[in-house]
Amino acid sequence: MVDLSWYKGRKVLITGHTGFKGTWLTRMLLNAGAIVTGYSLTPPTDPSLFEMSGVEDKITHVTGDVRDIDHMQKVFSETEPEIVLHLAAQPIVRDSYKDPRYTYETNVMGTVNLLECVRNTPSVKSVVNVTTDKVYLNEERQEGYREDEKLDGFDPYSNSKSCSELVTHSYKRSFFTPDMEKGIRTVAVSTARAGNVIGGGDFANDRIVPDCVRAVSAGKKLEVRNPYSVRPYQHVLEPLLVYLTIAMKQEIDPSYQDYYNVGPNDEDTVTTGELADLFKSCWGEGFDWEDKSEADAPHEAGLLRLNCGKIKKVFSWKATWNIEEAIRKTVEFSRVYLDGGDIPCEMDRQINEFLKEATYG
Ligand SMILES: NC(=O)c1ccc[n+]([C@@H]2O[C@H](COP(=O)([O-])OP(=O)(O)OC[C@H]3O[C@@H](n4cnc5c(N)ncnc54)[C@H](O)[C@@H]3O)[C@@H](O)[C@H]2O)c1
Repeated sequence: MVDLSWYKGRKVLITGHTGFKGTWLTRMLLNAGAIVTGYSLTPPTDPSLFEMSGVEDKITHVTGDVRDIDHMQKVFSETEPEIVLHLAAQPIVRDSYKDPRYTYETNVMGTVNLLECVRNTPSVKSVVNVTTDKVYLNEERQEGYREDEKLDGFDPYSNSKSCSELVTHSYKRSFFTPDMEKGIRTVAVSTARAGNVIGGGDFANDRIVPDCVRAVSAGKKLEVRNPYSVRPYQHVLEPLLVYLTIAMKQEIDPSYQDYYNVGPNDEDTVTTGELADLFKSCWGEGFDWEDKSEADAPHEAGLLRLNCGKIKKVFSWKATWNIEEAIRKTVEFSRVYLDGGDIPCEMDRQINEFLKEATYG
């Protein structure tokens, strides 16, 4: 069992709190008793998990753009966070081909702006910048990438996240390394490079599990455009618990600050087609899919694995839910959603079950 009571009464600022991962994270933190401020654009999807999660009136909810440093600084100054979790991003590969400039502005300058706000806010002690497994130069190889390998994502989304990593590295070295003589204070800063997440309440376009749920509710066969691409899939609560663990540990002891991969066990890295098959066997009657590979689709990595040896060693991490369980939980959530059930209650049920079964931290 993992106990998040360390967060009780702590002031946490989350960017991207209106998104899929941000909403689950906000609910986890509220359950732990944290005082949460969220800074994001309006929810990126309609329907939106944020709007159905019941968190909005329990936090300081600010609609703001990470490209607007003055507004973000005002929120930092007013709320004086101790812990900052940076999730706001344009996170869709295909959208990054459509609008690379916006993707870079949000994902790179947004990170610069965030770290400037951190520099100018003495209360901040711990920062986690959430990037992605796509930050590495992808050589389409079988072995998982380690944290010390070359950062050079291919498409504008992946590459903007590689840049966000490099920006973070520079700020750490230039501004956040403690130097008593120069009066430079300590802020512990880490990045976390997570694999693809699945879970209830993701309504984004161009993601396989939301596509499965949409196909079910429309009563249509799902067309899978990339069934042979291999990705490290994990349940959304897995990386969120790792982010919270890093933020907590490094606040207590800054020697934990580092760059961390966050992915599933090797056997849970599957193809998109295998994932659709798992969804099918878990959902049962009413879902089916077909191979609709696109010859002229924009480039996306075919094979992507992560080496998660570091989090295993440093935090004694191990995955709590394997891929089957992650799909089962997503199906359970989706049934509640499609039946018009109680979403906050279902979120809390899954969070409590997950924290009860998790054994590290
Ligand atoms: N979903 C995944 O599989 C996955 C995998 C690895 C990493 N990530 C990373 O996790 C983070 C969250 O992803 P998600 O799946 O929840 O995405 P999402 O699209 O559901 O949420 C994105 C959030 O960022 C906010 N946002 C976007 N542009 C903004 C801007 N200019 N200013 C302020 N806020 C802005 C949105 O309002 C939203 O709150 C992202 O940084 C993403 O790159 C996601």
